[in-house]
Amino acid sequence: MDMERALVLDTVRVTEQAAIAASRVAGKGDSDLVDQAGTDAMRRVLNELDIDGEIVIGEGERDEAPMLFIGEKVGQADKDSWPVDIAVDPVEGTNITARMINNAVAVIAIADKGGLFQAPDTYMEKLIVGPPAAGKVDLTWPVAANLRSVAMSLDRAVEDLTVVILDRPRHAELLREVRAAGARVKLIGDGDVIAALGSAIRGSGVHAVMGIGGAPEGVLAAAAIKCLGGEIQGRFKPRSEEEQKRLESMGASVDRVYSTNDLAPGQNLVFSATGITDGDILKGVRFFKNGARTHTISMGYQSRVLRFSDAVHLLGDGARVTVQI
Ligand code: FBP
Repeated sequence: MDMERALVLDTVRVTEQAAIAASRVAGKGDSDLVDQAGTDAMRRVLNELDIDGEIVIGEGERDEAPMLFIGEKVGQADKDSWPVDIAVDPVEGTNITARMINNAVAVIAIADKGGLFQAPDTYMEKLIVGPPAAGKVDLTWPVAANLRSVAMSLDRAVEDLTVVILDRPRHAELLREVRAAGARVKLIGDGDVIAALGSAIRGSGVHAVMGIGGAPEGVLAAAAIKCLGGEIQGRFKPRSEEEQKRLESMGASVDRVYSTNDLAPGQNLVFSATGITDGDILKGVRFFKNGARTHTISMGYQSRVLRFSDAVHLLGDGARVTVQI
């Protein structure tokens, strides 16, 4: 609990700065530039924090990512620092940021050591629902059965459910099944972490997330979903023999359905996401003369506080700015 209290506001600072940096170069059609800017900023702020941190979900393996690679140590790491594991996605939705399409976010989850599953960079089949349906769905059931259960938990008809699915050819059969069951489908181009949050927040208009997306994103979603009281179930879907081997070498299995607690077992757990572009839950970064305004959702598992923060950052050197409501 103390760790959560100490870290929750720090995590907000980390995602705010990553979002500002990525948003600064958004809309230029350059995904690498966006990723570089977000990653640089996130790493800089992480290294200012009083933590003894290790990246367990990051920008890739050490040999393929120069920064925030898996295993990289971050933070001030003095004798009183919290030893923590960290999952990051400095720009969740690099392509959508480059094209300035909705729902890109900067995301981080921090937990006590061992509190985040070290998922390799492969795919994961996911079923994500909010608190009313938690414990009442099963990834191994037919799609229609899960939708009936979600509908019942929300006291509504399946026809009144909206399911978010990544718009990919691999989802043709899933799409057919969800639509045949009567639910509406919201197809998204990218960004299933923020969609996951939507499924656990009443009023977002999203009732479930289904389909195959990134496994690292599954762990980030699990951290938030655990704080929000919803449920995620995930099954690894390696894309190649090499990914399968990597999975096995990390002690993971393709036959197992991983629960929220398997993916985010931490008891001390904090999560923060800041909007880069405008989205369903968060506004994107707005720039004005010598300043920027950010919108963030942050939470802790034990502290049971969910914060929406609207912050104005003064960016110039002692510059005078007029803040607007
Ligand atoms: P990035 O963080 O790499 O931009 O990922 C965006 C994303 O859409 C995730 O939200 C999702 O889990 C994953 O990519 C899906 O992967 P793919 O684009 O290969 O279907």
